[in-house]
Amino acid sequence: MFDVVVIGSGPAGYVAAIRAAQLDLKTLCIEDSIDESGKINLGGTCLNVGCIPSKALLDSSHRFYETKKNLKNHGIKISNVELDLQSMMKRKDDIVSKLTGGIGGLFSANKVESLMGRGKVIAKNTVEVTKKDGSVENIEAKNIIIATGSSPIEISSAKFSKNIVNSTGALAFENVPKSLGVVGAGIIGLELGSVWSRLGSKVTVIEALDEFLPMTDPDISRETFKEFKNQGLDFQLGSKVTKTKELKNSVRITYENLGKEFEMEFDKLIVAVGRTPNSSGIISDDLNIPINNGFIEVNDFCQTSVENIWAIGDVVRGPMLAHKGSEEGIMVAERIAKKHFQVNYDLVPSVIYSHPEIAWVGYNENELKKLDISYKVGKFPFSASGRGLAIDQSVGFVKVLSNAKTDTILGVHVFGPAAGEIVQQALISMEFGSSAEDLSMTMFSHPTVSEALHEAALAINNQAIHIGNKRK
Ligand code: FAD
Ligand code: NAI
Repeated sequence: MFDVVVIGSGPAGYVAAIRAAQLDLKTLCIEDSIDESGKINLGGTCLNVGCIPSKALLDSSHRFYETKKNLKNHGIKISNVELDLQSMMKRKDDIVSKLTGGIGGLFSANKVESLMGRGKVIAKNTVEVTKKDGSVENIEAKNIIIATGSSPIEISSAKFSKNIVNSTGALAFENVPKSLGVVGAGIIGLELGSVWSRLGSKVTVIEALDEFLPMTDPDISRETFKEFKNQGLDFQLGSKVTKTKELKNSVRITYENLGKEFEMEFDKLIVAVGRTPNSSGIISDDLNIPINNGFIEVNDFCQTSVENIWAIGDVVRGPMLAHKGSEEGIMVAERIAKKHFQVNYDLVPSVIYSHPEIAWVGYNENELKKLDISYKVGKFPFSASGRGLAIDQSVGFVKVLSNAKTDTILGVHVFGPAAGEIVQQALISMEFGSSAEDLSMTMFSHPTVSEALHEAALAINNQAIHIGNKRK
C-alpha cells in the first residue's frame, strides 16, 4: 500500500509527489498523458502546452520584434531580419523536453514512483488505473491527491477544427497567419495574440465583456489597453461570436455587437475563453464528494469531504495558476505528514507576460472601494526611472495602495519592465505585514527598475524624490 497516490503530474501533482516523498511517504504519481514515443509525459499543461512553451515563444517573438523595429533606437542597424519559424518552434520544443524530462529525474532522485494510465478514485483507499492497452490495475493508498488540472473551454459557436484552435494549437502554427482572430481578451488571448502579432499577424481580439481586463486595477486596465492597441492589436469589446464557418484555408466568423451583426475572415482563429476543470469520471459517485460547476469541493486545506482524499490545482477553486497549484501540493503533502502548513490565498501573485509585463498582488482600487476600506495611493511612472530610460522601457508605472489608517500595504500593481519580479518583492514585504513606510525606508540598488517600487511607496506620503510634487 502507498502512503500517497497522486493523480496527475502537472505543477500541482508533481510538486505534491516530490514533497510527500521528501517527507518519507511512499509515493506514486499516475499520469495519463504519453509523448510521441509512447513514454509517460510528465509536467501537465504548464510544462507541455502552457506556461513554459508560451513564455519561450513570447521571448523569441519579442527578440524578433525588437531586432526588427527597435534596435535602431540604440544606434544598431540591421538589415534583412528574417524569421525562421521552424527553428523558433524547435527551440520551444527543446525547452519543453528538457523540463518534462527533468521531472522524471526529480522523481527518481526523490524515489517517487510513476505509472502511466488514467486514474479514477473508486473507493476511499483505491485508485483504479486504466492503461493504454485497456488493462486495469487497482492501487491501494492511505491518501489520494487528485491533481487532474483543466482543459480549454470549447464554445458551440466556434468548435475546434483545422483553423479554429485552442491555446495548444496556437503554440504550434506551422506558418505565421496573415490574419488572426482571437476570441477572449483574457490572459491567453493577450499573451498568444502578442506572440503572433510580433511575428507579423494582423490580430483582432473579440471579447464578450465591455471592459478590458476587469480583474485588474482600473489604471492598469486603462493604460494596458492603450499599449496593446499601440502595439497593433485590434479589439472588439462587447462582442459575441455567434457563428463560424470553416473555409478551405480560413474561417469566417459572425459576431454581434450592440445588437448588430458583423462578419470577419481570418486565416486562423484562437478560442481562449477560459478553462474547465478535469473532474469528470475522476471520482466514483459512491464517494459522494461534491463537485460544483466542475470544481471538486475542498476546504481551506484542499481536503474533500472524504478525510484522506485531497484535491489541488486547477481542479479546485481559486485562480488557475501553476504557483497556486504547487503551493497547494506542498500544503497537502505536509498535512498528510501531520505537519502544519497553510496557503495564504490573499497573496497569490498574477503576471501577464506581455511586453511590458503586467503584474499585481493584493487588492486593487475597485475592490477597496467595494469593501469600503479607506486607502492611500502612491504611483511612480517608468518614464521617470533612470534604468527604465536606459533600457528603453519607460512605459508604465508602479502603483502601491496602503491602508489610510495603518499604512499597511494592501495591493501593488505594476505595468512595466520586470513587473513580475517587482510584484514578487512587494509580495514578500506584504507577507511580513509591511507598511508603505517600511518599503520607503528600505535601500534599493541604483539604477534598477525596482527603484520605481521604492518611489511609489515614498509617493504615498508625497515623498517621492524623482517626481515633481508641488509643495503646498
Ligand atoms: P495540469 O497542469 O493541467 O496537469 C494535470 C495533469 O493531470 C495532466 O498532465 C493530465 O494529463 C493529467 N490527468 C488528467 N486526468 C488524469 C487522470 N484521470 N489520470 C491520470 N492523469 C490525469 N500559469 C501560470 O501560473 N503562469 C503562466 O505563465 C501560465 N501560462 C499558461 C499558458 C497557457 C497557454 C495555458 C494553457 C496555461 C497557463 N498557465 C499559467 C496555467 C497553468 O498551466 C495551470 O494553472 C497549471 O498547469 C495547473 O496545474 P495542475 O497541476 O493543476 O494541472
Ligand atoms: P481568462 O479567463 O483569462 O479569459 C477569458 C476571456 O474570454 C475573458 O475576458 C472572458 O470575458 C472572455 N470570454 C468568455 N467567453 C467568451 C465568448 N463566448 N466570446 C468572447 N469572449 C469570451 O481565460 P484564458 O485566457 O482562456 O486563460 C485561462 C486561464 O489560464 C487563465 O485564467 C489563467 O488562470 C491561466 N493562464 C495564466 C497565464 C499567466 O499566469 N501568465 C497565462 C495563460 C493562462
